[in-house]
Amino acid sequence: MSRWLDKIFVLTGIFALLVTSQEAHLSTESPSQVFIDCYPQPGPSKELCELRGCTWKHVTKHDFSKYTTWGMFSRDENPTSATNNTYNLYSVHPFYMGLEKDGKAHGVFILNSNAQEVTTGPGPHMIYRTIGGELEIFYFPGPKPEDVIKQYEQVIGKPMLPAYWAFGFQLCRWGYQGLEEVKQVVARTRNAGIPFDVQYADIDYMDRYKDFTLDTQKWGDLPEYTNFLHENGLHLILIFDPAIQVDDDSFARAKRQNVAFIEWPRKDLVPRETQEKYPLANDTNIMLGVVWPDRHVAFPDFLDQTHFTNDWWTNELAHFHSKVPYDGIWIDMNEPTNFGTNEETPWYYNFLDHPSIEPLKCPIVGADSNLDVPPYQTVNVYQWPENTYLSTKTFCMLASTMRGQSRFYDTKNLYGWSESVSTYKAMRKATGKRGAIISRSTYPSSGRYVGHWLGDNHAKWDDLRTTVIGVQEFNMFGIPYVGSDICGFKGTTTEELCLRWQQLGAFHSFSRNHHYWKGPAQDPAVWPRVAKATKKANLFRYHHLPYLFSLHFAASLHGGTVMRPPFFEFPQDEETHNLSYQFLWGSSLMIAPVVQPGVDSVKVYLPKDSQWYSVYDYSYGQVQPSGYETYPAPMDYLIPVFVRGGHILPRQRPGMTTTESRKNELQLLIALETEKGTSAHGELYWDDGESIIDDFATYNYHHWEFTFTLSKSRAVLNITQTRTATDLPVPTMDNIEILGYQYTPDLSTVKLNDQPVAIDMKHSLYDSQTKILNITTMGLINLNSGRKFLLSWNHRGAQMQNGYLRNNNIVKM
Ligand code: NOJ
Repeated sequence: MSRWLDKIFVLTGIFALLVTSQEAHLSTESPSQVFIDCYPQPGPSKELCELRGCTWKHVTKHDFSKYTTWGMFSRDENPTSATNNTYNLYSVHPFYMGLEKDGKAHGVFILNSNAQEVTTGPGPHMIYRTIGGELEIFYFPGPKPEDVIKQYEQVIGKPMLPAYWAFGFQLCRWGYQGLEEVKQVVARTRNAGIPFDVQYADIDYMDRYKDFTLDTQKWGDLPEYTNFLHENGLHLILIFDPAIQVDDDSFARAKRQNVAFIEWPRKDLVPRETQEKYPLANDTNIMLGVVWPDRHVAFPDFLDQTHFTNDWWTNELAHFHSKVPYDGIWIDMNEPTNFGTNEETPWYYNFLDHPSIEPLKCPIVGADSNLDVPPYQTVNVYQWPENTYLSTKTFCMLASTMRGQSRFYDTKNLYGWSESVSTYKAMRKATGKRGAIISRSTYPSSGRYVGHWLGDNHAKWDDLRTTVIGVQEFNMFGIPYVGSDICGFKGTTTEELCLRWQQLGAFHSFSRNHHYWKGPAQDPAVWPRVAKATKKANLFRYHHLPYLFSLHFAASLHGGTVMRPPFFEFPQDEETHNLSYQFLWGSSLMIAPVVQPGVDSVKVYLPKDSQWYSVYDYSYGQVQPSGYETYPAPMDYLIPVFVRGGHILPRQRPGMTTTESRKNELQLLIALETEKGTSAHGELYWDDGESIIDDFATYNYHHWEFTFTLSKSRAVLNITQTRTATDLPVPTMDNIEILGYQYTPDLSTVKLNDQPVAIDMKHSLYDSQTKILNITTMGLINLNSGRKFLLSWNHRGAQMQNGYLRNNNIVKM
């Protein structure tokens, strides 16, 4: 690797939109510059500018009217969206998407793992700098935005599919006083009727924060309680940090099993005084650091090319699983984070819960400092206060990795990724199921193994807003299982902020309320109003989970995004290029969250060229005008949600857990495109929700395609099964709701595969004013009984229909 390489690439082109190449995806335009961006002449009014969100600090589209430099070097740094910084955060993603004015998109991926930075500026242009490594540059021609992501994923891999339960709502807190508090939180959430699937335990469950241990005093009943959760259809995710205390059993086992650790490259560099305190580390070059445990820690090197490190990690996780049968894994602090590096008085010296042990000091002067203080240290150092180094908050750059084959200087950004790969393999072995893993630090291809949460955000409206952008960006980075700490991790949330965040978070693939140890609890059942809003939002989510799951399944199978910005679907509609705060589930569902305080409406842009139906409290099932409109969004409504004409969404009656809802009857929501034609399409993927997927070619899953066509005289729903699983019965399809239905159906003529079907007239209804047809009949279509289904019915005569409609909108059938 050419270490001192300082490559500068000036890429010119028309970048109408640049998707940032690192996690600090937050554009930091000053309001005046954004203002310029929003006022092309002749341009949109100030009002329009406001509704696009461009008076807020953070928007999806980058600002090329000024120079902005973004660092890429994974760092334990929480997003602070209320400020104008471009801090390098936990992950590194050297990828951008450019979108031309004519709607054509392309992408560029620069594969490099060293410290790097990107400057964007007028022209528009982009400068890329790195201080090491090799460069492999990939260009993805698109031309559609979704094509770009699929092409990118041909290089980095397609996203993993989490277990079905992992799409349920999740609750977490760092600082639960013990298992008793967890029990109370779980009980009050369930008593409030909030659909809920996953409870977490943060580092509190451990004995003094050591991995693979249990605090027997306050958490001793965790194994029994996990069984209780399982009996009630819930699941448990546990946190595991990579740092291993070097006088603990796990470390002893690691040493016996020849595990690789991050090490000093030479014996004479090892700080003897610290090392000598630990008999198990004393004879080694292992670099010792400080994280949550009371004594010094070592970092396993997951890049180890032998099987030893991976085997040990697997054994540790499996052994602990035999004690506490957890279902999923949360890997944190894997930038990797080390507390107080190079500091005289690290923060933990003043922290009651951490002894003042000696921090790690890296060579920052002298002959051995060439990697820790290179000639050009990148903005990852320069944007921070004095005495910041590449090693700040992490290990020394000169450390050796891969058993001496590489340097931390070159591999640091890969730490979270390599831990993810190892944990993915380990979890499958430990649990025998596919489960779910979330990782704080990610790198291109992390999405093959893990999902991600956006880190330690603040309970502030700015941070709520940036989560909307972050989730869309991580979908572009190939990590669609992503979400934020709902209600805010740091600080004290408010009832209103928490309520709006719960409403928004219900639409993110990874939906977890998480908070730190300070201040009051913020789980939704704390406030009756938040509980009510969360129940409503989660019921909608659970109702539509078969669609969300199918989107994830398709992304794992074929690549692509799940949550996407509107410009992905409507690149030719230039207005969509400016939207930041609305997003789509796949191509069919538009979601417009409330992202500011004190409002009870949202201005929404519904792209032209499609028909949109409201599917929330306001004007349910009715076609909405395209363009900008203000929609009511009081707190007791769902946030505005619209379904796109021409699309069919599979859904299922919601239960209190996904375990329960998976057993309920299936349903279809059919939204007709009445102006352009009368057909609609959709699909459903279904598996057992938890088996390990090694190869989709042999994996046991169902897939159905739905096509609905309508003519003056007849309606036909075609269901074709293109893939059949063995021994995997599915619930019956009992309900079909059709929006935009312009004819009067004669439900006495319904046939399934040419056989008459008796429709339950009590529960079926056609409302000729709202144009909604709802057919409900128990066991209507038994999807287990064949591969092709044709459900059809006739329409009543047009004349009669008109006469009837004048007098009575509700047609009794
Ligand atoms: C940092 C993580 O980002 C946060 O989510 C977690 O609660 C704490 N570490 C404690 O484990």
